[in-house]
Amino acid sequence: MQNKIELLNEKKDLAKIGGGQKRIETQHKKGKLTARERIHFLIDKGTFEEIGMLVTHRCKDFGMEDQQFYGDGVVTGYGELNGRMVYVFAQDFTVFGGSLSETHAEKICKIMDLAMQNGAPLIGLNDSGGARIQEGVQSLGGYADIFYRNTIASGVIPQISAVMGPCAGGAVYSPAITDFIVMVENTSYMFVTGPNVVKTVTNEEVTAEELGGASAHSVKSGVTHLTAANDMECIQEIKKLMSYMPQNCEEDAPVYPYELQDETRDVLSGIIPESANQPYDMREVINGIVDNDSFLEIHKDFAENIVVGFARIAGRSIGIVANQPYYLAGVLDVNSSRKGARFVRTCDCFNIPLLVLVDVPGFLPGTDQEWNGIISNGAKLLYAFSEATVPRISVITRKAYGGAYDVMNSKHIGSDMNYAWPSAEIAVMGAKGAAEIIFRKEIKSADNPETILAEKEKEYSDKFANPYRAAKRGFIDEVIEPQHTRAKLIKAFKMLENKVANLPRKKHGNLPL
Ligand code: HXC
Repeated sequence: MQNKIELLNEKKDLAKIGGGQKRIETQHKKGKLTARERIHFLIDKGTFEEIGMLVTHRCKDFGMEDQQFYGDGVVTGYGELNGRMVYVFAQDFTVFGGSLSETHAEKICKIMDLAMQNGAPLIGLNDSGGARIQEGVQSLGGYADIFYRNTIASGVIPQISAVMGPCAGGAVYSPAITDFIVMVENTSYMFVTGPNVVKTVTNEEVTAEELGGASAHSVKSGVTHLTAANDMECIQEIKKLMSYMPQNCEEDAPVYPYELQDETRDVLSGIIPESANQPYDMREVINGIVDNDSFLEIHKDFAENIVVGFARIAGRSIGIVANQPYYLAGVLDVNSSRKGARFVRTCDCFNIPLLVLVDVPGFLPGTDQEWNGIISNGAKLLYAFSEATVPRISVITRKAYGGAYDVMNSKHIGSDMNYAWPSAEIAVMGAKGAAEIIFRKEIKSADNPETILAEKEKEYSDKFANPYRAAKRGFIDEVIEPQHTRAKLIKAFKMLENKVANLPRKKHGNLPL
């Protein structure tokens, strides 16, 4: 028996060094941790259980039968993350560049099936040269098996993808289907076709980093939700993100202990500037409302005219969607609508209540916007809010103009509670534009058109640049002083805690994608 145990331990030791010490050193020199080190830092001490440690590939071409590495380039298993069960795979770049073979894919699929069966999140740590080139269609089939499972699991269990090295070609579509992507700056990249193909086809010269690095995807494409300076920070971001998420769509997110105290926040009363045209940072409003240091912004550098992210209020997870007057006056455009819509749906499928902070002058005009589909993209946000069955509360801090008033979680599309600050202006459009249209003839024929315009602007503004018409109709449930916002929201979210809202039976809706 002793011999047999030694043999087992020999095999395990071989598995643990992956592609060997030299390749591990190369990985470290690039500033990257190995697959096992990443899991070590991600999963609670002593809780990780590996599955499939002794799996090897079945390829017999190109001398591959002589190159066998236990684990076949991916470490898979389960363990606890801050005391909660998760399933995890980490691609091992030291074995064939983390490339995906048939058996590598089978290992990932096995833990995906377990994650689904047992209702626990899936975390994928990607670091791979793509399809195992020595294999043929088996490798492509393996990718498709993963994509299919990502899709079926979508909305059932949270799926988080960290991209901690190369992720190219079709391989990008697994992270793309998951709920969140976290990319590491300078060591990771994602693209469908790399710089060489780009050069051949379009004659553009671009580096891998420029084409698909973390900053390209956080600022330009919006593909990544979070970025991290290095592997350790990436792991911390995953842990933080997980703290807001439930285990699956049947459960609620974890609740953190919180004792109610004086919830007045005077800071909220000093944020809105005197002039309605002056910007302010909506993040100040968010931080004034939510539990201290609990705001985790998602898609921070993409479409900055809308701010989305998770936070806690009296210990409970909420999702926040907020116009950002600091950037493009908080206008809704193609990208901000897409960003907002995606976030609303993420919160809705995982039972995370929504807080919507409104200060929106309308939709961005222009050929660029119209030709890039502001109609169908704006509709995504409208659709996402309308369909969301989680508790939904809006606070209008200042402007709520035109169609954007409807879209931003208005009462009319199913919001549960709608508050407005006394600074709210709820109207079809701004006073100047409105006066120019409805009093055009009068202004044109006047001896002093500018004075008349100013008078009419004031008249319109006095009538509409306030929350009281909407409050009279019940479209606003209460006009509240800013400093009481947090206290009101704590009570309202508690009141809505057991909300039940059912949509009509259907196969699925037809969101304008
Ligand atoms: C087999 C691979 C591999 C792959 C890398 N390796 N990629 N082995 N299949 N796809 C091996 C290398 O031979 C090398 O082995 C080791 O991994 C490390 O690779 P290096 O090239 O030395 O590392 P580096 O310089 O860091 O470059 C990393 C890389 C490069 C940029 C990822 O290896 C690369 O370009 N690989 C090929 C990428 C690719 O074309 N993949 C197929 C894409 S198509 P040794 O023994 O020397 O350590 C695809 C389709 C998916 O993925 C479709 C899904 C629908």
